[in-house]
Amino acid sequence: MTDQTWIPVDVDTGRPSIARIYDFHLGGSHNLPVDRAAAREVVAMMPELPAILRANRAFLIRCVEYLAGRGVRSFLDLGSGIPTEGNVHEIAQAVNPQAQVVYVDNDPVAVEHSRRILLGNDLAVAVDGDLRDAVSILTDPEVDRLMLGPGEPVAVLMSAVLHFVPDDAEAADLVAAYRDAIPSGSYLTVSHASLHEESAARIGRAAEKYSRQVAPMKVRSREQVADLLKGFEILAPGVVYCEQWRPGPDDDPAPVYPLPQACAVARKP
Ligand SMILES: C[S@@+](CC[C@H](N)C(=O)[O-])C[C@H]1O[C@@H](n2cnc3c(N)ncnc32)[C@H](O)[C@@H]1O
Repeated sequence: MTDQTWIPVDVDTGRPSIARIYDFHLGGSHNLPVDRAAAREVVAMMPELPAILRANRAFLIRCVEYLAGRGVRSFLDLGSGIPTEGNVHEIAQAVNPQAQVVYVDNDPVAVEHSRRILLGNDLAVAVDGDLRDAVSILTDPEVDRLMLGPGEPVAVLMSAVLHFVPDDAEAADLVAAYRDAIPSGSYLTVSHASLHEESAARIGRAAEKYSRQVAPMKVRSREQVADLLKGFEILAPGVVYCEQWRPGPDDDPAPVYPLPQACAVARKP
C-alpha cells in the first residue's frame, strides 16, 4: 500500500511487529516490507502457519458468539491486534447490541487503527497497554467501566497472545491476576501456539526464528496450556486444537491432522 498515513509517528518501520505480521497473514493491508519479509521466512519453515492463524481467528469468533449467547455483555480483549474481518465488538454486538468491548494492545498501529474504526461506537474502546502489567490494565478507567458491577460476569480474551509471555511462571501469575480480578461466573478464553509430536522439532525451529527476529515466544503443549488455567473450570470440549472447539455446521469436527493451535474456554467458579 502506498498510503502510509496509518503509520503512527513513533513506529520503528525498520523492525517487524507481531501485530503487523499477523495482519499480513490474515490478508490485511496494515503491514510493511519488513513484516512481510519476516512472515515469509517463518512460513518457509512452517507452511501451515497462515491456515493456523485463520483457524485461530475462526475460534475467536465462535467463542465470542458462544459467550455473548450465554449472556456475557462485557469483553476485555487482551492483545487484540489490528482490526480485521469479524472484530470482537461486531460479533458480540450482533448477538447483543449492548455488548461492551475494551481492546488492549501494546502495538501503536493496532491501537490507532482500532480507535479509528471505533469512532462513534460508545460501547467499544481501545486502550494502549501491556497485558503483562495487569495492575495498570485492571485499574485503567475504561477497563474499570467495563466491569459492570457486582456479580456481572465478564469475558477476558487472550487470543494468540499468551505465547508472547515465554516464562511459564510469569504467564501463570498473569492469568491468576486477571482471574482474581473478575467476578465468579466470568470467563477466560485462550488460544496458544502449540505443536504435535510429529511436528514438534520443525515448529520449535520456526518459533526460535520468530523469537530472534520479531519477539520472544514460547510454544506450549495442550497440557501446558491447561496448567495455565488453574482455578478455572475448563468448559467442554476441553483444551483442544482450534478447529475442534465447537465447530460450526460447515467445519470438519475431526480433522485427521488438526492445526497445532491450542485453545480453551474456561469459567471462574
Ligand atoms: C497474533 S496477534 C493476535 C490478535 C488477536 N488477539 C487474534 O487472536 O486474532 C497478537 C497481538 O498481541 C499483541 N501483544 C503481544 N504482546 C503483548 C503485550 N505484552 N501486551 C499487549 N499486547 C500484546 C500484539 O501486538 C498483537 O497485536
